[in-house]
Amino acid sequence: MKLKTIVLAIAMIAAVLPAQARKAKKFTHETVAIPEVERKVIAVETARTQLLLQVDKKGVVRTVHYGAPTGDPAQFLSYRSGYNHNFGAPDAYPAAGGRFNGQEALHVAYPDGNQNTELYYTGHDVASRDGKQVTTVHLKDYVTALEVDLVYEACRDEDVILMHSVIRNGGKKPVQLRNFASASLRLEADSYELTHFHGGWADEMQAERTLLTHDTKLLESRRGTQNTQGNNPSFVLSLGHPFSETDGPTIAGALAWSGNFRISFELDQSNQLNIVSGISPFASAYPLAAGKSFTTPEMVYTWSADGAGEASRNLHRWARKYAVWKGGEVNPTLLNSWEGAYFSFNTETLLRMIDDAAAMGLEMFVLDDGWFGLEHPRNSDKAGLGDWELNTNKLPEGIDYVASYAHSKGLKFGIWIEPEMVNPDSNLAQAHPDWIVQSPGREIHQSRNQWILDLSNPAVQDFVFGVFDRTVALSKNIDYVKWDCNRRVMSFGSPCLGEQQDRFFVEYIQGLYSVCERMRAKYPDIIVQCCSAGGSRVDYGSMRWFNEVWTSDNTDAISRTRIQWGTSLVYPACVMAAHVSAVPNHQTGNVTPLKFRFDVASSGRLGMELQPRNLTEEERALADRCIRSYKGYRDLVFGGDLYRLASPYDGDYYSLMYVSPDKRRAVVFCYCLRMQNPSARSHAFRLQGLDPALKYRVAEQNVDKSCWWGNGNSYTGAFLSGGGFNPGIYKANTSAVFVLETE
Ligand code: DGJ
Repeated sequence: MKLKTIVLAIAMIAAVLPAQARKAKKFTHETVAIPEVERKVIAVETARTQLLLQVDKKGVVRTVHYGAPTGDPAQFLSYRSGYNHNFGAPDAYPAAGGRFNGQEALHVAYPDGNQNTELYYTGHDVASRDGKQVTTVHLKDYVTALEVDLVYEACRDEDVILMHSVIRNGGKKPVQLRNFASASLRLEADSYELTHFHGGWADEMQAERTLLTHDTKLLESRRGTQNTQGNNPSFVLSLGHPFSETDGPTIAGALAWSGNFRISFELDQSNQLNIVSGISPFASAYPLAAGKSFTTPEMVYTWSADGAGEASRNLHRWARKYAVWKGGEVNPTLLNSWEGAYFSFNTETLLRMIDDAAAMGLEMFVLDDGWFGLEHPRNSDKAGLGDWELNTNKLPEGIDYVASYAHSKGLKFGIWIEPEMVNPDSNLAQAHPDWIVQSPGREIHQSRNQWILDLSNPAVQDFVFGVFDRTVALSKNIDYVKWDCNRRVMSFGSPCLGEQQDRFFVEYIQGLYSVCERMRAKYPDIIVQCCSAGGSRVDYGSMRWFNEVWTSDNTDAISRTRIQWGTSLVYPACVMAAHVSAVPNHQTGNVTPLKFRFDVASSGRLGMELQPRNLTEEERALADRCIRSYKGYRDLVFGGDLYRLASPYDGDYYSLMYVSPDKRRAVVFCYCLRMQNPSARSHAFRLQGLDPALKYRVAEQNVDKSCWWGNGNSYTGAFLSGGGFNPGIYKANTSAVFVLETE
């Protein structure tokens, strides 16, 4: 038979055979062997906390404990959590397609369309870096050669553990990261009460509480730039009890990233909580070339046995030491020109404000928006952004003249920029239309009459750095820069990324950080404030480069109590700029006494933002007293331990205090916010953090009319903590500040 005939015969037989018979050849599935490993428990420890990772013999790594130290980690060698393992228990870093069906930390699409990843332990190492103990756990997918390092950095004295991952494409072709979280944390408690921070413009860091129920709660931002305007990437979690300042196991967490983020809290059918946190994968299926790796931002965690107060203090101590640019230093008091002059000023206006700032004892003058744009003058928010040349019609003598005048009066000098943005009405927008974030063929939507420059483009990064560089070069007397960012991303898209638009949101922020890195390499000593229409970029990602944040455009002291209380849960007072402004308040219309405004602003980095000429002689004298006394106790605000005594959310009173690390000094702030029951004419605050055995002399500050019979007396820490501190404020918008010093 000829070959052709044989082939034809086989084809005919195959066609008449039933399908069943054709499948008779057994499907064999070749699996890649996973090497067995020795079982072990990896301990990441701080002074008062322990995180334990269990490695089973298959090489699966699971988080089995985060909380109080439990003794020898080996006790957890064969520990099984409350999971029903038939349903799948999450790995320390769950991957899509692996052993778990819940919220994944990692989701990778491979070139053949496969989307399964299973990570196994290949080793771990421990090193010491910058005073932190760094544990790196190496994981690998044996089928795709994808590798992941889980990095845990333990800050021993601060009880903070930082977590991030490094994802490496060990294969030969590019892969796509569809979810690439920083960390995953599994917790087991009877209940989980989440406090998170919702916000809007002039309404940032509003604490909201919710008892987590089954399924998933998401905190997310897709705003690109103003990442913290809707939600802050941080939270406090009370485990097995409602929120408490002083009692019960509590976790606080914060993601150090200034772009889109997602933190998911998934309470599953085994009543376990999985927190997956990282960059939001929204519109960001990130391409990872063969041999390349992607490093995720840090997720910051602390655990406290004694409520949110201790958790906040841990974060604050860590932030001052590791996370905020020069976080251990005191930033100057200042007068900012914005609410006092807005866009309407000339050299004379500024010199007189400088005179007044100096006379009241302030230490710096900051010239806000409106000093630039020549052909397109910045006389309103409609024009000029992008054209960073001096408006010589407004300030013919130049910036150096004003800055030098400030210095001659003993003041530092600061200046405002918004280098990421451009008004359509500017030379820059006309010269570089391809630098603007946009989607081809569509209208580029404006917000506050402005567009965004595409920081994923290296040429734009050079320009933005140049704006900082050239502005600072306007005078050798520039000590401070306020870096603003007044809009979020809409119609997203980068002309320079071509078809790789998935990179845009991530590379915008990486571009921003690379500019910040250059800024700090050249200008380590300039104080730089991070502002974003107030507090729309308040996160531990940006604070690495900035000394402080503009907490909110809302300068109303009443609103500020809630904003500052929320901010203080996660961020230290040293970054919290707080300004005394005019009444009726420009944002809310509320009228409060000047003393109350000073007392609220003095619990952060004190400043003023009004036209001093409009103050009466009596008000200026009070301002002078408040500023002088602030300088005497501000080291406590900047570096002390914070105790929140009463919350502005809960009742008529708000109170907080800062205690020096050696417990010998403290400053106490007390506010009466509302008065609903005038027959209850006093309120006793139980002070915290004092040494019960020491005697403290109480000295009232910011006095317009002394309010407390105890002023000037000495009391033991035990007395002051046991209910004896009753400053006698009982009218709405009254307040008192006391410094306590051991004899
Ligand atoms: C928004 C900021 O939050 C304000 O403090 C002020 O700097 C304006 N921008 C200026 O345009």
